[in-house]
Amino acid sequence: MNDTADRPIIAFDSGIGGLTVLREARVLIPDRRFVYIADDAGFPYGDWDEEPLRARILGLFEGFIARYDPEIVIIPCNTASTLVLDDLRRAFPAVPFVGTVPAIKPAAERTSSGLITVLATPGTVKRAYTRDLIQSFATKCHVRLVGSQNLARMAEAHIRGDHLDDAAIEAEIAPCFVEMDGKRTDIVVLACTHYPFLANVFRRLAPWPVDWLDPAEAIARRALSLLKPNGAGSEPEHGDDIAVFTSGNPDFSTRRLMQGFGLAMA
Ligand code: DGL
Repeated sequence: MNDTADRPIIAFDSGIGGLTVLREARVLIPDRRFVYIADDAGFPYGDWDEEPLRARILGLFEGFIARYDPEIVIIPCNTASTLVLDDLRRAFPAVPFVGTVPAIKPAAERTSSGLITVLATPGTVKRAYTRDLIQSFATKCHVRLVGSQNLARMAEAHIRGDHLDDAAIEAEIAPCFVEMDGKRTDIVVLACTHYPFLANVFRRLAPWPVDWLDPAEAIARRALSLLKPNGAGSEPEHGDDIAVFTSGNPDFSTRRLMQGFGLAMA
């Protein structure tokens, strides 16, 4: 094993939503060790005011970088990335950061009807970063921003095996569907890493079929492109991938879920 393989990749999310990106990253990058960090003590991020959230995440990263000395950091969290990505890059210039921001550009390139929706947390839809993406890449489209108060929590409950009421999910996604001048929304951007866990439920409950755009694989590819090669013939052999929870005390179903993902509890 060489030096780069010893240094892990950190994947950081407010909760367990970032596992949707981690599972893609592990497929593309089998020769690296991952440290999955969930700020469950701060979850959900969607409702936080910007300044305290920025300070919280920067403070947490002081500790993470010192402790894990990561080769790169992936932030599979739109709510965090759209707020602190630039600050993190400034604060830790030696560490490459891969962010996750609403996939507005690919949606604008792909839409046929010109009607696209961004489904995200209230924090992400409020961000200047999100408005700038629309200004830069989607001025020819009609973009509906839908900020959901409840879906991130619902996705966490769903993935832990709790029963969810269809009507409650239907109410959350209903504003995504727009009909205008004989055209209909044809793409809904999943701009919160938690939502792909509910994609099949969304598909079943949607009033008409749309493309539910999940950026997970694109993020994993970007991360792969930033890594130094491990060298020909190197074995995909490394220590355990681990999960870290800022509460220090995740519940039983969360621990079981981590186990199911092959993550040892730190
Ligand atoms: N998973 C997060 C995102 O991608 C946010 C969920 C939350 O903490 O509200 O935006």
